[in-house]
Amino acid sequence: METIHQEFQVAYRYPVYFTEGVFESSNPVLVSTICADDDAENSGPHKLLCVLDEGVCQSRPELPQQVEAYCRAHPDLTLVRPPMMVPGGESVKNSSDYVELVQEAISEFGLCRHSYIVVAGGGALLDMVGYAAATAHRGVRLIRLPTTVLAQNDSGVGVKNSINAFGKKNFLGTFVPPHAVINDFDFLHSLSDRDWRSGMAEAVKVALIKDAAFFEFLEQHAKALANREPAPMRKLIHRCAELHLKHIGTAGDPFEKGSSRPLDFGHWSAHKLEQITQFRLRHGEAVAIGIALDTTYSRLTGMLPEADWRRTLDLLEALGFALYVPELDGPLSRCDPDSLLHGLTEFREHLGGRMTVMLLAAIGRGVETHYLEDEIIRNCIAELASAATAAGRRAV
Ligand SMILES: NC(=O)c1ccc[n+]([C@@H]2O[C@H](COP(=O)([O-])OP(=O)(O)OC[C@H]3O[C@@H](n4cnc5c(N)ncnc54)[C@H](O)[C@@H]3O)[C@@H](O)[C@H]2O)c1
Ligand SMILES: [Zn+2]
Repeated sequence: METIHQEFQVAYRYPVYFTEGVFESSNPVLVSTICADDDAENSGPHKLLCVLDEGVCQSRPELPQQVEAYCRAHPDLTLVRPPMMVPGGESVKNSSDYVELVQEAISEFGLCRHSYIVVAGGGALLDMVGYAAATAHRGVRLIRLPTTVLAQNDSGVGVKNSINAFGKKNFLGTFVPPHAVINDFDFLHSLSDRDWRSGMAEAVKVALIKDAAFFEFLEQHAKALANREPAPMRKLIHRCAELHLKHIGTAGDPFEKGSSRPLDFGHWSAHKLEQITQFRLRHGEAVAIGIALDTTYSRLTGMLPEADWRRTLDLLEALGFALYVPELDGPLSRCDPDSLLHGLTEFREHLGGRMTVMLLAAIGRGVETHYLEDEIIRNCIAELASAATAAGRRAV
């Protein structure tokens, strides 16, 4: 037998900008990131397809015209057609229809691997367009403009793209880093209270597993954050994005080939809850419940001090999250696809390798486990249910 062993490495580098008024013609961020690599052999004008979240356009009807005016003001950019408007939210990931719509436009307007897709929207739209961009021509350059808290501090700055299929979250997808990310804080003013809040769950998540000082910051500013004060939210987004980027860049497994996925703390149940509530819950709302469950599990198994558990639930509640939904009380079986516990089966299947779930040893310190006991999960749910009843609150 003869063998040729192939090996090469590819370095990835992309900027995450923080700005305001990205489509004001005086704002250089977008045009300069597109023209950054121009030289004598490869220069503008650059083809650009823009995809906008309809939810954003409803509150900013002037946005498509602004995009067109921006491109007219910068001759290095050729907008191939008026911005495409696509619905936002999970429904856009629940079939391949919209992926095909974007790919069709890539084909029709002759975009190539040196062209750009600029997508402005929530995490769902970014995931879907990212998947379309990564698969057309095996990769058209993607510039993400995240418009929700969750997309600016988590999903939009990372390397994953996906749609849902066969009833499973993110079943089809790619690991392809974006060309650039532009976080424009202005977009966040028009968010609903739910979407303003939802993204903060990812900040609590990453603080709990990696950064106790950030957790304290969230505690100190919980009221201001819940009241939509911009200054602490800017800091939350910046630090949360920084922690996610640092993990992806330095933890040694950017494309998640191993079994360990610390950033998925609270997510085994969250993804399942999104599905069994028919996506009534936003991703972040489900993550808040997932964090509450796994933090309670950590306490009940003696890993986490009671005081840290209390602080975590208090913070989630102070931010405005409800930590119980009636679907938590459904049948608990790892074999029943409609059961919350099936989330563990799907989580392991999605990840491959050994089942690995992040729990907590302290605020700021995650620990991995390879085994969760059904009976303890049952007790966690009972605790969340009785806490909700005591507070006179049934959720979302
Ligand atoms: N790729 C990843 O690594 C990753 C990580 C976490 C979450 N996600 C995915 O992100 C998705 C959730 O994203 P999300 O929380 O941003 O919500 P979303 O994309 O579902 O958007 C929620 C709603 O807000 C609207 N909207 C978006 N921006 C707005 C704005 N500025 N003003 C007014 N309305 C606006 C949308 O139209 C939609 O109706 C889920 O599909 C989740 O699986 C992906
Ligand atoms: Zn998440």
